[in-house]
This record gives sequence, structure tokens and C-alpha cells, in this order.
Amino acid sequence: MTEICIIGTGYVGLVTGACLEHLRHKVACVDKHKSKVAELRQGNCPIHEQGLERLLQKAQKLEFTTNLKQAASQSEIIFICVGTPEKEDGDADLSHVFEVCEQISAHIDGKTVVIKSTLPITAIPDVRKILDSNSLSYDLVSNPEFLSQGTAVKDFLEPDRIVIGSDSDKGFDSVASLFQEIDAPVIKTDIASAIMIKYASNAFLATKVSFVNSIARLCEKVGANINDVANGMGYDKRIGKLFLKAGVGFGGSCFPKDTRALVKTGSKLGVELEILKAVDGVNTFQRQLVIEKLKRHLGDLDGKQVSLLGLSYKPGTDDLREAPALYLARDLLNLNTRINAFDPIIKQVDGFDGKLAVKEEAYQAVKDADAIIFVTEHPEFSLLDFARIKELAKGNIIIDGRNFLNGSKLKEAGFIYEGIGI
Ligand code: UGA
Repeated sequence: MTEICIIGTGYVGLVTGACLEHLRHKVACVDKHKSKVAELRQGNCPIHEQGLERLLQKAQKLEFTTNLKQAASQSEIIFICVGTPEKEDGDADLSHVFEVCEQISAHIDGKTVVIKSTLPITAIPDVRKILDSNSLSYDLVSNPEFLSQGTAVKDFLEPDRIVIGSDSDKGFDSVASLFQEIDAPVIKTDIASAIMIKYASNAFLATKVSFVNSIARLCEKVGANINDVANGMGYDKRIGKLFLKAGVGFGGSCFPKDTRALVKTGSKLGVELEILKAVDGVNTFQRQLVIEKLKRHLGDLDGKQVSLLGLSYKPGTDDLREAPALYLARDLLNLNTRINAFDPIIKQVDGFDGKLAVKEEAYQAVKDADAIIFVTEHPEFSLLDFARIKELAKGNIIIDGRNFLNGSKLKEAGFIYEGIGI
């Protein structure tokens, strides 16, 4: 059993803390927000993440605190899991990481400090400088996370790989020992390479998505079906089937932010990552494509009513960060379109001056709609009563932004059905 301190109780910190406790370590999770810590102490899970609530409920050696100094002093390994949100210029905002480093710098003697937050390689000298400010001896490790929202607990406990980057064997060994019970390849490397593995993995997956979305656009022109094309490509083991689903583009707190941050790092160091700039551009265009499709059917969108079904950036999460649905909503509102939305998990969206009405059920959201856009492939949407939808809606246009509905059936039922690249 190792005593561990986790700083930051966002989805990465909380999942890491709960899972390390599950692996029989003693864990103190620290957050500066008192209300969040109070909620967690009461056993309330603040995020929608499959399996997490159960882990939190049955945890015996997991505590929550706002007392960072005490938690850091009492532990052998300190994980930094605070957010690195995107700044307006595309760079990562490292202020939370630096703040934490300052606060722990007097309590790290003989300990291992693990960076789990996704931060650019160029920030490591600054991290070291802050941690060195009390001239204490510690080992620095990068142990990037590969947790997809919605499957984060499973991804932690059954990972494809564990990446540990350190300049010292002691640092590597102390982190590797935490994962002894997990059956996965452990990649031992240096800090810069560990960080690159994380960024390059996300950027590569985002590239796959934008690649397939570009091919989808061409498929529309030549009368091919991107679902069949991606399926056919995916059988090639060198390509693989995953992350080849065409649609309204990727969102979330990771792909857009990390891709742009990598571009930024490259630019700062004189390496223009043109391919990743294009990945971002294609992703933005995918949302525009939906508006173009709508215009093709409805003409001027001024005064038209559109339903947005699905708000989160993907199923299984309540996260709205960089969600394509919100970009679409903003673009539609700018065109004076009225919007009613529905999402099985999200019941309210802030920041739209009350112009984005989130209804309690899908049928309310489609009432009187000129067109319906499915933005997230929530499985429950396939089970909707489309005959009822047809009666309730004013128009008969369905845009399937994730190519997951049965288009032929919907056409038979009298809808004008459009997917992306099919
Ligand atoms: C992603 C990575 O998959 C994780 O490995 C990584 O740890 C995490 O970012 C992170 O850096 O923290 P996540 O953002 O939760 O995880 O979601 P993904 O499942 O990767 O999906 C990202 C976006 O791509 C979603 O909007 C999804 O709808 C879209 N996508 C995914 C597609 O449009 N097509 C696909 O074929 C796959």
C-alpha cells in the first residue's frame, strides 16, 4: 500500500484517486473548492462517469480534503491532476499547474511528483524551477492519462498501456509499483517522450476523425457511402476500425485543445504541424456542413425552427466542452433560427440568454420543428417512435450528424434523411 495525494478532483483526478484506492492504495484527493470537497465527502459523485460512483461508495481508504499541504506532506507520491484549459491563443493555460507546484514545493522532500495533467513539454523547465524553489530532492514523473469520458474507470483499470516517463529509476519504479496488479504493457521512457506519446495519441485519433470526415465529403459527391468505406478500410489491421466514424466532428475537452496546443508547441519551436492545422479546420467545417444541408432543404433559416437532439460531445457523458451541438446552436441562433433541444443527460445549458430551450423529452423538442438534427449518437435515440415524431414535427427533414440511425427505414416512413457522407 502506498500513500498517495491526488491534486484536482476533475474527472481525471477523481477517476485516478478512486481507481488507485481500488488497487489498495491509501489516497487523499485534494481540491481547493470547499463545496466540491463537501459533496464528495457526503458520497456524491459530481460527474457522470460509469462505475465511478460505485468505486467511491465502497472506498475505505479514500479521503477528500482542501488541505493540500497536509495531504502532500503525508504522502509518498503526489499526482498533479489539475486542468490545463485552452487559452484564447490556443496555448494551454498552465496557471493551475504552476500554482499547485508552488504550494507543494516545500513538501516534496524524498517524494515522487507525478504530472498527469496534460501540459506541453516546453512547460517542464518552469515546473522544475518552481518545484526546485525550496531546494528539496524529489523525483519528477510524467504519467499521462488515456481516459475516455464515459469509460474512464475501465480505461484506467484495463488500459492498453501505461506510460511512465522519468529521468530517474526511483521515480519510474515508485509509479510502476502502483500499477502492479494491472495487466498492461508498461512503457518506460523519459519525460519529454511520455508527454509526446500523450499529445501525439490524441492528435492522431483526431486526425483519423478529420480524415474520415474529409473522405465523407468526397463520398457525398461521388455517390459513395462513408460507412461502407470506413468499414472496408477498417478491416486492414494497419488502419483499424476505431475512430473512423464520420459525423459533425470531434468535441470534448481533449482533442480540440490538445491538437491546437501541439500546433502551438510546434510553432514556438519552428516546426509547423500543417497536418494538425488541417485537422482543426476540417473539424470546424463539419459543423458548417450541417448548416449547408439545412439551407439546401429549408432555404433561408431565418424564423425556422430546428430541433437539436443530443448536446454532449459524445454519448455517456454530460460534458458540454467544445460540444459540436453548442457550436451548431450558436451558428443557428446567429441565423435567427429558433432551437429546441433535448439530451438524455443534460437538462440545462447556460450562456445562450434563454434562447436554447432544453426540453424534458425528445418529443417536446421536435414539436413543430422544420428540421431535426441528431448531434450525439445517444443509443436511446434509435428507440424513438419516429411515427410520432413525424406527426409532431412540422417538416420531415432529419439530419443524422452521427450516421447512426436507420436511414432507409426513415425514408420509408416519409422523412427526408441526410447523414454525413452517405
Ligand atoms: C480522448 C481520448 O480518446 C482519450 O484516450 C484521452 O485520454 C482523452 O481524450 C484525454 O485526453 O483526456 P474523450 O475526449 O473522452 O477521450 O473522447 P473520445 O471518445 O476520444 O471522443 C472524442 C470526440 O471524437 C467525440 O466528440 C467523438 O464523438 C468524436 N469521434 C470519435 C468521432 O467523431 N468519430 C470517431 O470515430 C470517434
